[in-house]
Amino acid sequence: MRHLLTGFEFSSDEYLQVLELAKDMKENPAKYSTNLAGKTVVTLFEKPSLRTRVTFEAGMYRLGGHSIYLDQKNGEFGHRESVKDYACNMSRWVNGIVARVFLHSTLQELVKYGTVPVVNALCDLYHPCQAFADFQTIREHYSDLSKVKLAYLGDGNNVTNSLLIAGAKLGTDVTCVCPKGSGPDVQVYEAACEVAKHTGAKLKVTDSVEDINGFDVAYTDTWVSMGDDTPLDKVKARFMPYQINQQLLDKTGIRHVLHCQPAHREYEITSEVMDGPSSLIYDEGENRMHAHMAVLSTLLNQE
Ligand code: CP
Ligand code: NVA
Repeated sequence: MRHLLTGFEFSSDEYLQVLELAKDMKENPAKYSTNLAGKTVVTLFEKPSLRTRVTFEAGMYRLGGHSIYLDQKNGEFGHRESVKDYACNMSRWVNGIVARVFLHSTLQELVKYGTVPVVNALCDLYHPCQAFADFQTIREHYSDLSKVKLAYLGDGNNVTNSLLIAGAKLGTDVTCVCPKGSGPDVQVYEAACEVAKHTGAKLKVTDSVEDINGFDVAYTDTWVSMGDDTPLDKVKARFMPYQINQQLLDKTGIRHVLHCQPAHREYEITSEVMDGPSSLIYDEGENRMHAHMAVLSTLLNQE
């Protein structure tokens, strides 16, 4: 039984196969209209979502399947019943569980007690579905991912960790430029570096924007992730040197910009860049749907 919890579960070839399938699903949707006919997933969210929720639901529909949404109240693990009982019950009714949770351990418990594939729709440590859509978007502009240099700027978080894993698998250089003390998870970084040894990807963590001159793509995310109540203005001074703005693009020569969204305009990214010619951000948002369809098809059609 295959799951998608971290991204480490997929080999480099499998990563590329998912990206290739996502591309074909985008270009030839009619070919896949019954790909998941008769199949159902539960999408369960402990935290808010726009993109992930809508794209999983729309994606299931496009593949001929069906999706059932459990909101933050109904998806509240451990309140009305345990994670184990959620997993045991849901496995009797549906073909897959897509879950956005506070703790990665909740996903591991769903896998332990459930009997259907589990997909991580974001947790404290990873956002693997996002990374598939991000690299699908990059691949639309750079056919050889092993020649791409990707710079992540800002707070090292779940999105950053997943970019490092996907970059390592796909042979893409990923440099994370974060203030000291706000880098990506050290264990994830070290595990990704082990993978990178076999694929030729160069991974790096630095606090200096000088290190990304000549890079191809800049990526940022919120400075305060869901579940952290710190006001953005409280961390503004600390993160401002890592903002993606036109000055940074001019200085580094970076040509393309990504943001997983939701974006905080004039904080981690300026409106000038977000709405400007370098931005691939809405393509990236669209690709969430195609990437999710490819992930669902891969996991729900396994023997
Ligand atoms: N990028 C992302 O996961 O967006 P949502 O939180 O809206 O799902
Ligand atoms: N790092 C962000 C990603 C949102 C899609 C968060 O966890 O809130």
